[in-house]
Amino acid sequence: MSSTFTIQPSRRVAGTMRVPGDKSISHRALMLGAIASGTTRIAGFLPGEDCLATLAAIRAMGVGVEQHDATTITVHGKGLHGLRAAATALDMGNSGTAMRLFMGLLAAQGFDSTLVGDESLSRRPMERVAVPLRLMGADVRTTDGKPPVHIAGQRRLQGIRYAMPVASAQLKSALLLAGLYADGETELTEPAISRDHTERMLISFGQPVSCKGLTVSLRGGGQLSGTDIQVPGDLSSAAFFVLAGCLAAEGELVIDNVGLNPTRTGILRILELMGAELQVEPAAGSGAEPVGRLIVRPSQLQGVRIPPELVPLAIDEFPMVFVAAALAHGETIVSGAAELRHKESDRISVMVAGLRALGIEVEELPDGARIQGGTFSGGTIDSRGDHRVAMSFAIGAARATAPVRILDTDNVATSFPGFVSQAAAVGLAIKAAPNG
Ligand code: S3P
Repeated sequence: MSSTFTIQPSRRVAGTMRVPGDKSISHRALMLGAIASGTTRIAGFLPGEDCLATLAAIRAMGVGVEQHDATTITVHGKGLHGLRAAATALDMGNSGTAMRLFMGLLAAQGFDSTLVGDESLSRRPMERVAVPLRLMGADVRTTDGKPPVHIAGQRRLQGIRYAMPVASAQLKSALLLAGLYADGETELTEPAISRDHTERMLISFGQPVSCKGLTVSLRGGGQLSGTDIQVPGDLSSAAFFVLAGCLAAEGELVIDNVGLNPTRTGILRILELMGAELQVEPAAGSGAEPVGRLIVRPSQLQGVRIPPELVPLAIDEFPMVFVAAALAHGETIVSGAAELRHKESDRISVMVAGLRALGIEVEELPDGARIQGGTFSGGTIDSRGDHRVAMSFAIGAARATAPVRILDTDNVATSFPGFVSQAAAVGLAIKAAPNG
């Protein structure tokens, strides 16, 4: 049984809201807390299924974790060499971040591990992480390039100098985690900048990291010290509501306490290029991660050619960009975004199919799409179990001419628990119902 969203047309989006904690930062806080010496306190944790998979995995490896309430957690770190083998395979659920970061972390442990995932994760590429880990001396086996992933422990790792073939924070982070345990220096160069939460958080845990342009490096053999982490609201979740506020005919929406790390704000720049009436107010005195407030008003969006350099800075927001483009005036061209085919679904083909189901003219390209702005009719969308596809169409559906049904929406809980009630609270006419 999986649930279906039904959205009726509506005009107004208004209010003040906060979104749940950042997913990328929540995963990393648990992982680094687990291998630090001493205690790490995490506030604003995202209690979504993806991060709960990471939490279950560190517990299974012997780490003491107290969850005081849904978003407040204390991790009793075991130090770099204190994890122990889990009794069974570690289940990463739907989470590519959990699987790929753990590949790096577990490659360096004194025990063997197996990582498994759900149907979607079991179709995603893992060799991009396994290949450089093997260059470091790790023993990592994938299953035809995909999960399950088997990792043999008791390997001595060597630092490497590695030119990453893709801009991927998951790959970069996996290699930095392995690098903590390696002899000598691990130096990674990306083809374009990807999110830098791991680098920032390692520094907060007392581990020196050097970042120069597209190159990041660290030396193995140090130790991490537990710290306090304040997780900001997830910009990738806030972005759905920024779009909702732009598409609305009336109202003003304020979103407080949102992470504004510049390696994540590509979506704000894209929406601004499209003509969004958006105000960004950075808060003074933020910690390792910049935070601020977003204010958004009804906007007339225009089609644009998305600058390829913004793609890695907005990589998770492209389902939303497709919806924004479909409801803008004129043509939008997305290119240089082939990575979208390797996310929780093939986001290019799933979004193209969904846009067509709502009457939009769109041409699928190998690395993007050419989208003609128009109006959504009513209809039914198959989200293919992809949380961000489901939420993007839910936001756009508010401006359709008739009701829209979105199928297979259970995975919204992987990243945004409470999405439906928060959307309803600011004005969307959305309901979730179980569907056999
Ligand atoms: C993430 C990195 C991104 C992103 C994912 C979270 C992370 O993947 O799509 O949702 O937390 O490192 P890639 O950097 O591998 O593209």
